[in-house]
Amino acid sequence: MKYTAVVLAAGKGSRMNSKVHKQYLMLAGKPVLAYSLEAFERSAVDGIILVTGENEESYCRTEIVERYGLKKVTEIVAGGRERYHSVFEGLKAAAGSDYVLIHDGARPFVTEEMIQKTMQAVREKSACIVGMPVKDTIKISDCENHVLDTPRREYVWTIQTPQAFSYGLIYHAYEQILKRPDCQITDDAMAVEQICKVPVHLIEGSYQNIKITTPEDMLVAEALLRQRSGTGAL
Ligand code: CTP
Ligand code: MG
Repeated sequence: MKYTAVVLAAGKGSRMNSKVHKQYLMLAGKPVLAYSLEAFERSAVDGIILVTGENEESYCRTEIVERYGLKKVTEIVAGGRERYHSVFEGLKAAAGSDYVLIHDGARPFVTEEMIQKTMQAVREKSACIVGMPVKDTIKISDCENHVLDTPRREYVWTIQTPQAFSYGLIYHAYEQILKRPDCQITDDAMAVEQICKVPVHLIEGSYQNIKITTPEDMLVAEALLRQRSGTGAL
């Protein structure tokens, strides 16, 4: 069985307000993107497709893939305008895989164990996504900030990556959803939920598996790294 990781790094990081795209910002001397690539390198996946911005391929090749000795990165492809365009480019490059694990390059704290758990789960259930139960109460509002509903907290999850699928299933779901003029999906499972009749299975990731999105996330990331290296108080 062939497992391919598709790691996404083609975003512009507009919410980060930084000149350098957030996936290339330095975290304890190493680019954010290198952390998740290293986790996949150490894992049992067979190959990694790196999806990056146009004109960023050569930077990624020399400064990340070669510098950190990432031998499993078989291809670096250019992404697209929206995340789902980038995913589809990655999926095309992953042709011939049995399973794909789609991961945000802006989530440096994915671990080998999490990847292992996801690979195991997707063999039994063909759509498996990592997330965590929410800690806060969540409310659904209308466009005027009036509360419409409060779902029961034990059934509400925040969704992370990796998201793993049988290759044929996710390729078909994306191919169909991209034909829609109002495609508004924000994660990969949404494509399967809207197109296929296959249930999407939730598995627990970690509260540490944060996505670097706004500047304070870098502070959290630095604290998490200090803890990992045994010098932090967390
Ligand atoms: N991504 C991508 N291609 C895009 C948009 C996003 O590959 N067109 C990637 C990002 O690089 C990131 C992941 O998808 O690793 C999650 O997206 P997000 O956190 O939204 O990143 P950005 O789109 O870069 O940030 P923002 O939404 O703040 O502009
Ligand atoms: Mg975005």
